[in-house]
Amino acid sequence: MIVLGIESSCDETACAVVRDDRAILADVVLSQLDEHRPYGGVVPEIAARAHLDHLDHLVVEAVRRSGVDLAAMDAIAATGGPGLIGGVMVGVMTAKAIAAVTGKPFVAVNHLEGHALTARLTDDLAFPYLLLLVSGGHCQLLVVEGVGRYRRLGATIDDAAGEAFDKVAKMLALGYPGGPAVQQAAERGDPARFRLPRPMKGRPGCDFSFSGLKNAVRLLIAAQAPLGAVDRNDIAAAFQRAVADAIADRTSAAMKIFAATYGGAGALVVAGGVAANALLRQTLAEVAGKAGFRLVAPPLRLCTDNAAMIAWAGLERFRLGQQDGLDFAPRPRWPLDPQAKQLRGAGVKA
Ligand code: KG4
Ligand code: ZN
Repeated sequence: MIVLGIESSCDETACAVVRDDRAILADVVLSQLDEHRPYGGVVPEIAARAHLDHLDHLVVEAVRRSGVDLAAMDAIAATGGPGLIGGVMVGVMTAKAIAAVTGKPFVAVNHLEGHALTARLTDDLAFPYLLLLVSGGHCQLLVVEGVGRYRRLGATIDDAAGEAFDKVAKMLALGYPGGPAVQQAAERGDPARFRLPRPMKGRPGCDFSFSGLKNAVRLLIAAQAPLGAVDRNDIAAAFQRAVADAIADRTSAAMKIFAATYGGAGALVVAGGVAANALLRQTLAEVAGKAGFRLVAPPLRLCTDNAAMIAWAGLERFRLGQQDGLDFAPRPRWPLDPQAKQLRGAGVKA
């Protein structure tokens, strides 16, 4: 079985082709970083326009690289949400058009399900497992019980972790995107010079919060101004340490719940752009080890937004007999766990 997938829900335009033996036959990603950099963040209208400009060529390129004829594919998948709706519409429209012309089935994929099932593409992981999804738009802990079966254990009540990295980078004038810039500065800084709060640490449940930490950084910067390079590095280091500690605490709580509910420890999968953070990875490896969990971190290019994960999730759904009609409407919000209470904030697009 071979599935073509399209991703266009944020600032990556991507197309990939995957096969059911977990081979990635093509995986093309075009980042729009340069288009958004002058604005210090993703501008939805610019993103939608860029997807429209590039997606057609990208699909042609992915099909060419895969060496598989469109006629030989089994289904056409695209991210159907959640995300920036203009971009999602471009991807869904393109996938529907290809499906209509070739007579192939169309599968609308939940972007978060793409992240959630990536570890099955890369590591052939069996259900159930625990997923920590930390990116610029999402911050949540989920139990992946099966295809289409998710239980959210916690999510951010305000900002996503990546968003906090990006905002702190802006405050410290470190540039965009913020995560890698903060990490670089932090590696030269002293994390012990300033003490920042660990939001939600020790609280019941597994929810996250980053707005208070962001505010504490703002106050610290004001108190230390004017900042020299050493101050900036030390603040970045203190912030990174606080985020890693807070996420590790919330993840430890989730591992306890998982172990109690599913009969013991299992695998902890990390995904999302923030999973690139070296200190976070190291801290998670420590807490996972203590809890007896195996830490699974897919290669970075499959952790950040890509279309291989969408093609794969489409394939997993399609082989279970699921597909969507050409009347599918793109969804700006699409929770993986419909039972979970709705939370407010940019980090909770799900
Ligand atoms: O998954 P992703 O590429 O896009 C979505 O948000 O969906 O994640 C991007 C986020 C940005 O907020 C970026 O600052 C953050 O991931 N990020 C990092 C690092 N690399 C990227 N955060 C901390 N440390 C990093 N090394
Ligand atoms: Zn994503």
